[in-house]
This record gives sequence, C-alpha cells and structure tokens, in this order.
Amino acid sequence: MGSLNVLDHPLIQHKLSILRDKRTGVKEFRELVGEIAALMCYEATRNLPTEEIEVETPVATAKCRVLSGKKLAIVPILRAGLGMVDAMIDMIPSAKVGHIGMYRDPETHLPVEYYSKMPPDIAERSVFVVDPMLATGGSACAAIELLKNKYGCKNITLMDIISCPEGIDAVRKAHPDVDIFVASVDEKLNEHAYIIPGLGDAGDRIFGTK
Ligand code: PRP
Ligand code: URA
Repeated sequence: MGSLNVLDHPLIQHKLSILRDKRTGVKEFRELVGEIAALMCYEATRNLPTEEIEVETPVATAKCRVLSGKKLAIVPILRAGLGMVDAMIDMIPSAKVGHIGMYRDPETHLPVEYYSKMPPDIAERSVFVVDPMLATGGSACAAIELLKNKYGCKNITLMDIISCPEGIDAVRKAHPDVDIFVASVDEKLNEHAYIIPGLGDAGDRIFGTK
C-alpha cells in the first residue's frame, strides 16, 4: 500500500490557515498556494534517490550528492493544479510538465476530462500529480487512471493541499500503489461534495473567477 503523509510542518499549517480564510484575496491566495506547494514538494521529494559525485571547490574535492534514478514530471489537474506548478518547477527545474484538463460536473460531481498532453517520455518518469483539493477523489482517480492506462506511467505520487477521508479512501482503493501527500485531512464533504471546512472553490479563488 502506498504511504499516506499528512504534512504537519508549522510553516505549512500557518500558511494553510491564511489560505482557508474567506477574507484572503486572489493575489495572496495564489501566492500562498505556491508557497505551500514548495514546502510540500520539499517533503514529498525527501526519499528521492541520490548518488555521490565529486565536485572541485576552489580549495579541495568535495563528495556531494545529486539526484539519481528516474527523471521527474509534474502533472497538474487543471485548472486549480496550475497554481502549484511554478513552485514545483522552481524546486525541480529539470522536471517536465504534463497537463490534465478535468472539471467536476456540477450535478453529478463526476470528473469530465477535456484535455491531456504529456511529455513523450512520461512513462519513464516519476510523476507528481498536483491539485489543491482532494474531495470525492473522482478527479484524482481519473487522472491517475489516465496516466497509467493511456500514458503507461508506473510511478505516481499525489500531492493535494486539502483532502478529506472520502477522497483519500477513494484513491487508496483505486490506486493502492500511489503515495499521497496532503497538508490536511478535513472533516467531511457537504451535499455539494465541497470539503468541510475546506477553503471553498480553489480554482475560483486562484483565478478570481467568482
Ligand atoms: C476541483 C479541484 C479538483 C476537484 C476535486 O476542480 O481542483 O480537481 O475539484 O474534486 P473531486 O475530488 O471531487 O474530484 P474543479 O472540478 O472545480 O475544476 P477547476 O480546477 O477547473 O476549478
Ligand atoms: N473542489 C474545490 O475547489 N473545493 C472543494 O471543496 C471541492 C472540490
């Protein structure tokens, strides 16, 4: 079974409390999503393999460690996942970026895929799927299924800022091989499949569309 990691780092939790606040405006919300994504990226990449190399400093030879193993890819689920991408690329500049376009049908709450485009060697890469919200888990499960079945990905990690028990259970049931990193497991979903207490609609708050 993949790991479930709830990142209780004080900086992440502090920023998350401002992110949730309904008074936080679009500019600050967008900045916070990036800052939290960077901190989560730091934790989610903790176990990446490294190898030793020698580097000539101005005075001696230093034994250093650099990333080894599979190359990385970041795959945001549009739209809201886009808010996490720049911060991830700042941390991992060599990562390629794929996109999956998906929205939840307002009536059924089921995900509808409208777009996907991946780097050609995505099957060989370790993939980080990013999205601020894991609610029913429908979008994450469908995105991971697409990455596995259409693109041949085998090594997938899911990063969501806010999750809930229903979404985590859905992903772990459908994709038990996937490691999950979240900053919070909230209480529940409401009748509109919004996370309670959550932060509202992440996409609308990032892009100012409501
Ligand atoms: C939100 C969110 C996730 C999804 C989570 O996107 O960013 O992708 O809902 O819900 P789920 O776990 O129940 O599938 P939304 O569909 O609102 O689209 P948007 O990012 O374009 O706003
Ligand atoms: N998508 C969001 O943006 N927020 C939720 O609470 C649930 C789905």
